[in-house]
Amino acid sequence: MATKKVPFNLQTCARPNILVLEPYRCARDDYKDDGTNILLDANENAYGPALSINGSLAASPDPNDPSVDFLGLNRYPDPHQHELKQLLCNLRNTHVHTQKNITPANLFVGVGSDEAIDALLRCFCIPGRDKILVCPPTYGMYAVSAQVNDVGLVKVPLLPAPEFALDVSTIISTLSGPESSNIKLIYVCSPGNPTGSLIKKADLQKILEHPTWNGVIIVDEAYIDFAQEGSSLAEWVAEWPNLVVMQTLSKAFGLAGIRLGAAFTSPDIASLLNNLKAPYNIPSPTSAIACQALQTAGLNVMRDHRANIVGQRDRLLTELQKIKGIGRLRGGTSSNFLLVEVLNGAGSPDNTTALKVYQSLAQNRGVVVRFRGKEHGCLGCLRITVGTEAEVTRFLTEIEAVISEVWKI
Ligand SMILES: Cc1ncc(COP(=O)(O)O)c(C=O)c1O
Repeated sequence: MATKKVPFNLQTCARPNILVLEPYRCARDDYKDDGTNILLDANENAYGPALSINGSLAASPDPNDPSVDFLGLNRYPDPHQHELKQLLCNLRNTHVHTQKNITPANLFVGVGSDEAIDALLRCFCIPGRDKILVCPPTYGMYAVSAQVNDVGLVKVPLLPAPEFALDVSTIISTLSGPESSNIKLIYVCSPGNPTGSLIKKADLQKILEHPTWNGVIIVDEAYIDFAQEGSSLAEWVAEWPNLVVMQTLSKAFGLAGIRLGAAFTSPDIASLLNNLKAPYNIPSPTSAIACQALQTAGLNVMRDHRANIVGQRDRLLTELQKIKGIGRLRGGTSSNFLLVEVLNGAGSPDNTTALKVYQSLAQNRGVVVRFRGKEHGCLGCLRITVGTEAEVTRFLTEIEAVISEVWKI
């Protein structure tokens, strides 16, 4: 399927050692398990997992008794996760951004999107030489993963006013400048963390169409299901050879504990990421739960919970604005958190006051939020996750009391 013509060339952009990598192969890549084979190829334990149900050991599993199957935990999980990938495609083939369909060949699945963040760095960036471009304020793991991989960081801050947009002209000139050939990846968070703002598709397109830059744009859509319907650009990867869209089941799907993230991209990039990953990176309980969540019943629950969160988000915003000592909402409302200013007695956003409010909430009131005041454009800001109705009610009471206490000191 033809994609847009851009200067991106995978053969010169990805690391040479990754391009020639022979991935690990297991015997089951050659001989598919149809359920009737005796599996003596992977040094597993045919007697079953060391677990018990209702007090009875599952040490001698009866293959006809599903109660002792434990999801087949004594077997290595499926390295390819085709069914899970197909369900993710079904969800994201909305035909809002392209008429093309994405397929499992467009996907990498990992242990949270944190694995995808790291896998992309290892795929494209030569340690000690290459760099990534990030747009602060943004998610902290891009910088942590870059440092772990000895990859440099180029920062082009977001434009705080009015809503933390990309500084497109500075990004474009940076990608034409002297260090541009070593900048391999751009990580853009949309909706942003901690900004809650959706990045404009037209701004991303201008960067995707850069006339000379040979690199990849990664759009991190961890919070996308809290944004307006149709906002996800996952299917747009069918149009661009230089685009990756990351998602996770940790947020709207409420499954942070199973650790399941995904990267949608071209089949060529997906294939490199799949080659370099550990063969059995997705545990079978994780994929079983993820597949449940991505079927109709699970999607309905997700949409119900999302509607509740969006309702509480709107209420939290309205009520916060009535509290003396709370300033402007910074950023947007496309996520499950709000970034708001805390004011000092003189009515200005202030880090000393915000930090005291943050500490007092946690230490004296048992309410933990996040202080973000040291981030670019976030002076005096707290990032508040939207909780249940009761949690929002309690939070509003506590923050109002804490601010008036702090002001008196
Ligand atoms: C923007 C963003 N990306 C990725 C992640 C990590 O997601 P996961 O739980 O899938 O590793 C987070 C978690 O807070 C996040 O805020």
